[in-house]
Amino acid sequence: MERAAVIVAIDGPSGTGKSSTSKAVAAQLGLSYLDTGAQYRAITWWMVANGIDIDDPAALAAAAGKPDIVSGTDPAHPTITVDGTDVAGPIRTQEVTSKVSAVSAVPEVRARITELQRSIAAGAERGIVVEGRDIGTTVLPDADLKIFLTASPEARAARRSGELKGADVHSTREALLKRDAADSSRKASPLAKADDAVEVDTTELTLPQVIECVVTLVEEKRAGK
Ligand code: DC
Repeated sequence: MERAAVIVAIDGPSGTGKSSTSKAVAAQLGLSYLDTGAQYRAITWWMVANGIDIDDPAALAAAAGKPDIVSGTDPAHPTITVDGTDVAGPIRTQEVTSKVSAVSAVPEVRARITELQRSIAAGAERGIVVEGRDIGTTVLPDADLKIFLTASPEARAARRSGELKGADVHSTREALLKRDAADSSRKASPLAKADDAVEVDTTELTLPQVIECVVTLVEEKRAGK
């Protein structure tokens, strides 16, 4: 018997194809889609725009509840606004990317964003694909299916520098490893594979192959296999 709403958690470091895979899987299966990295980027953007000192965890904690962050969950057209302003472009800048690990390490920031994520997932009537770093471990530990995507640092850097329109692979690799190390070693809800997650190594796979693999896993889950 098919379950009405299926909750899929897709975690992993950057450059593993998480966003492209999650969006495509959600679109193919008629599910909602949530990019939780975009939410951490959005709160980071707001902190920078409002002059909050990124090196002051107490200041970040005190401001964590202030911005109103709204995520649109249509996989064909995901949106993100802060206090009504569309920040889809600004959250992808180098400045935000270099500061997001510090902001997302603050427990009060994580508590605020986690609450948002849980309420979005609970409201997704047909189910949702939620991608991030701590979805299967912390945000949605009862997800129906947990996937942990991995890939070699070389493959991840090559993909990221392609996305950044030809950025140097070596410096992209260094920046990416630095962000992974920060995200994996923080005290609050670090990047980690849940014990019951299915690990998919995407190093040698094309994007369509990864999508097919995850779609099959979701369909098997829905069919109760
Ligand atoms: O997936 P991304 O590169 O857009 O994520 C940006 C940052 O947000 C990442 O460096 C760590 C943080 N993040 C997090 O701490 N927890 C999540 N569930 C998702 C992202």
